[in-house]
Amino acid sequence: MKNKSVLITGGAGFIGSHVVRRFVDKYPDYRIFNLDALTYAGNLENLVDIEDASNYTFIKGDITDEKFINNLFETHKFDKVIHLAAESHVDRSIEDPLAFVKTNVIGTMILLNAFKSCWNDRFEGKLFYHISTDEVYGTLGTTGLFTETTSYDPNSPYSASKASSDHFVRAYGETYGLPFVITNCSNNYGQNQFPEKLIPLFINNIIQRKPLPVYGDGNYTRDWLYVKDHAIAIDLVFHKGKQGETYNIGGFNEWKNIDLVKLLCQQMDLKLKREKGSSLSLITYVKDRPGHDLRYAIDASKIKDELGWKPSVIFEEGLEKTIEWYLSNDDWLKNVTSGAYKAYYEKQYQ
Ligand code: NAD
Ligand code: TYD
Repeated sequence: MKNKSVLITGGAGFIGSHVVRRFVDKYPDYRIFNLDALTYAGNLENLVDIEDASNYTFIKGDITDEKFINNLFETHKFDKVIHLAAESHVDRSIEDPLAFVKTNVIGTMILLNAFKSCWNDRFEGKLFYHISTDEVYGTLGTTGLFTETTSYDPNSPYSASKASSDHFVRAYGETYGLPFVITNCSNNYGQNQFPEKLIPLFINNIIQRKPLPVYGDGNYTRDWLYVKDHAIAIDLVFHKGKQGETYNIGGFNEWKNIDLVKLLCQQMDLKLKREKGSSLSLITYVKDRPGHDLRYAIDASKIKDELGWKPSVIFEEGLEKTIEWYLSNDDWLKNVTSGAYKAYYEKQYQ
């Protein structure tokens, strides 16, 4: 794919920055364009190490700005798109659902339309790769796994907006022959995650000896995947995935929130050389999240069997690396938690 141009949206965010770095480093022949609006979740500090690479260009812009996006496609004629830009936090979607419809649904539509008209329905060698979540499937009971054929049943405004965007991508494939692939991934963790999601929020609170707000009884289950393993899976699906297909990506790694939090406390005490058990005393049970999904767990056998992907980092090791990264990047943490973060935190956990 020499000299092909690849647009990565949301590349200044958590997962996007790992994907951008991987593609810039690994594929010097591709021209990588990172389009990001730099919302509260986007941060160019995530990419300082590759910002001067000759195959990399950052473009600040909003996917909901139709005129701007159409011009951008006309100018650069992106052959392939990896679409990660989104509003991504469930709690924020409960406060402001419309913002999620705007970016996740309308923004995706605007990209699809721009991609479609740019290539005038001549799609040979083109690809629209849509990054989605397992949350579109709704909640599991105590048993079972989400497969690619599980019916969509989203429960939060976030997951409803992602489900809607997935449907539009698939519909453009059916209706206009637009070449697409979709992946639905489980919860990611790792370096550069904004400290509003469970793991980085709790790491930051433990550092500051602040309460650890566990929602409800803490018996909610998530399937955790190290972010670099997600980036590897995205690379693989981008190059080898079958057009028109969906692949589930997961960690084969289910944890009840409360057990995860206890492990995190234990590892943090060791790293911070604090007395054993001291972080555990910060655990505070707080009011539950409305519409809280009980359990997510992915059956990732399709991507494993068809493309040979499986997670490479075991959870205890990934969590330790994550903690070490946050402890040695306290400037990053301080920068992202100054300003607007404080107001968000006070409102959410008042
Ligand atoms: P994030 O919130 O860390 O990053 C999102 C990025 O998108 C930010 O850089 C932000 O500035 C940018 N953005 C937001 N609105 C934009 C707009 N209107 N125009 C242009 N850019 C905009 O999110 P993340 O956790 O990295 O998730 C990335 C993608 O992966 C999302 O589509 C999300 O639904 C999906 N996903 C996330 C997880 C997870 O555990 N974090 C799991 C599965 C799937
Ligand atoms: P989160 O990281 O927001 O991801 P998602 O809701 O997309 O799964 O939350 C992970 C789990 O942790 C979820 O069950 C909600 C819970 N949680 C808390 O108990 N307290 C918190 O402060 C946060 C942010 C999450």
